[in-house]
Amino acid sequence: MQVNLADAMTLLNNGEVVAIPTETVYGLAADASNEAALLKIYATKQRPANNPLIVHIANIHQVSGYADEFSALAKKLAIAFWPGPFTLVLKAKPHVSNILRANAPTVALRVPAHPLTLQLLKESGLALAAPSANRYTQLSPTTAAHVENSLGKDIPVLDGGPCQVGIESTIVSVDGDQWQLLRHGMITEAQIEAIAGKPAQPLTQDIPKAPGQHLLHYSPRTPTRLFEAFADLQKYAQLHPHCAALLIGQSNTALHAQVHSAHCIALPSTPAQVAEHLYDALHRLDDLQASAILILLPPDQPAWAAIRDRLTRAGYQDAP
Ligand code: TXA
Ligand code: MG
Repeated sequence: MQVNLADAMTLLNNGEVVAIPTETVYGLAADASNEAALLKIYATKQRPANNPLIVHIANIHQVSGYADEFSALAKKLAIAFWPGPFTLVLKAKPHVSNILRANAPTVALRVPAHPLTLQLLKESGLALAAPSANRYTQLSPTTAAHVENSLGKDIPVLDGGPCQVGIESTIVSVDGDQWQLLRHGMITEAQIEAIAGKPAQPLTQDIPKAPGQHLLHYSPRTPTRLFEAFADLQKYAQLHPHCAALLIGQSNTALHAQVHSAHCIALPSTPAQVAEHLYDALHRLDDLQASAILILLPPDQPAWAAIRDRLTRAGYQDAP
């Protein structure tokens, strides 16, 4: 159900959830200070209570309302990448709801870059908790239609058009002058390292695993298989009828014609272009009710890390 900005604001002020556009994916938003509203997010998504939510804020000045420590390093990263597809995990102020942060000592914060949602944040004065607006483990939504397909027609959606970045934000935790990369995104590790002036600390076992760290995540309903080489994908398609295919990072669209399948999407060859269209392509292939979705992965290179991360999770259920 589409709503306008004024309706969205009223609903949020009344403790309801509203799907909102961001530059990454659509989020299912609620007033971050209203615990009953936060519980509605978990219930609507069927998301386990141990998976914390990102708080969306209008600007860098609101960080101090949530974070106990805003170190020089964290500030430098926020200035460099906000508004944008970048989330900072910082030590939380004690008052920050435990429902929001799932009892973690930290809180995740992001200033999104979508003009409509920035206007909503500014005019309402609310901070908005928002995970991606899809059911737990399913494909993330990058259009209002994706949201309605996943969560139903009754969900109020503020339609801001298709998301321009297309995959979820990069998540970085900062503790003093150290940083760790919790989730790959289109702001790359190299970009962050350049601003931080030092490499990420490695993730250790005892770090609470966060972002989509469940291996089965971002998944189509159709069984999904991943391939590093086109020849292997082609062989599989020849042996198994009714496959759909997604070819990534291939400039040669002649490959397209060779796939033994009527259903094939070839995405363009740069990481940014692929990210923008990735979830929509997966939604469309999933709707075909093919026997399998075969995905030709982009090269195992840093520029493709976020896209390989999402695809590896999409394909995990069917990994050998
Ligand atoms: O681009 C995005 O980040 C989108 C848009 C809507 O902003 N949001 C998004 O939210 O992807 P979600 O909930 O699907 O993924 C956020 C991830 C979760 O996997 C959660 O575990 C992690 O962020 N997270 C949230 N709070 C955290 C915290 N305090 N410490 C570590 N991880 C946290
Ligand atoms: Mg999600």
